[in-house]
Amino acid sequence: MRILWAFPDVRDHLRRCRAKAVPIQKRSLPHVKQVLAVASGKGGVGKSTVAVNLALSLAMHAEHAPRQRPRVGVLDLDIFGPSIPKLMALEDAEEPRLTEGKPGAMVPLVNHGLPCMSMGFLLPKSQGTDSSTDTPVVWRGLMVQKAAQQLLFDVDWRDPESDAELDLLVIDMPPGTGDVALTLAQLVKVEGEDAS
Ligand SMILES: Nc1ncnc2c1ncn2[C@@H]1O[C@H](COP(=O)(O)OP(=O)(O)OP(=O)(O)O)[C@@H](O)[C@H]1O
Ligand SMILES: [Mg+2]
Repeated sequence: MRILWAFPDVRDHLRRCRAKAVPIQKRSLPHVKQVLAVASGKGGVGKSTVAVNLALSLAMHAEHAPRQRPRVGVLDLDIFGPSIPKLMALEDAEEPRLTEGKPGAMVPLVNHGLPCMSMGFLLPKSQGTDSSTDTPVVWRGLMVQKAAQQLLFDVDWRDPESDAELDLLVIDMPPGTGDVALTLAQLVKVEGEDAS
């Protein structure tokens, strides 16, 4: 970089780029009050198991009277190997429907009282089965960010009956610090991220 800086043309160009750079604004997710991400650098350590059990136990939080129990949802951001359909027994469920309006938002599938969204609900079913677990997908470059953004921002988490928002969304992350983790970190405010 220092060598490049020695060239006046390059230096001017870099200065112009820096002046134009606009910091990315973090947004909150539509109809979600708080976001909690379950992540780890290593695969197979129990993230999805923890995410589902955490969401279920928080949804049944005993300190609140039944009517005031928090609304908790689960978002499976592991687009490379979604586990939430299996863990939530939603493998054979139909594709999520879309809300009215253009463009429509995806409506989460619900089991055990937990609204869930996963790439596993959106992939075509494998031949001869009702499940998409074994459907192979080649994820390339920007497709990963686009898919992660759609799962983050294009889901309507409101209760269809009461219109209540989610108090907490538990996100099951893929292993590592790749594009999905970067997309979440750049675009979304997550609980505890400012803690040092
Ligand atoms: N506390 C635990 N003790 C023993 N086995 C566990 C525990 N938690 C999860 N497992 C098992 O470990 C395996 C991996 O769990 P899980 O799929 O939740 O991990 P993961 O971190 O989400 O994996 P990946 O990185 O592939 O998404 C599963 O077979 C699960 O049943
Ligand atoms: Mg997992």
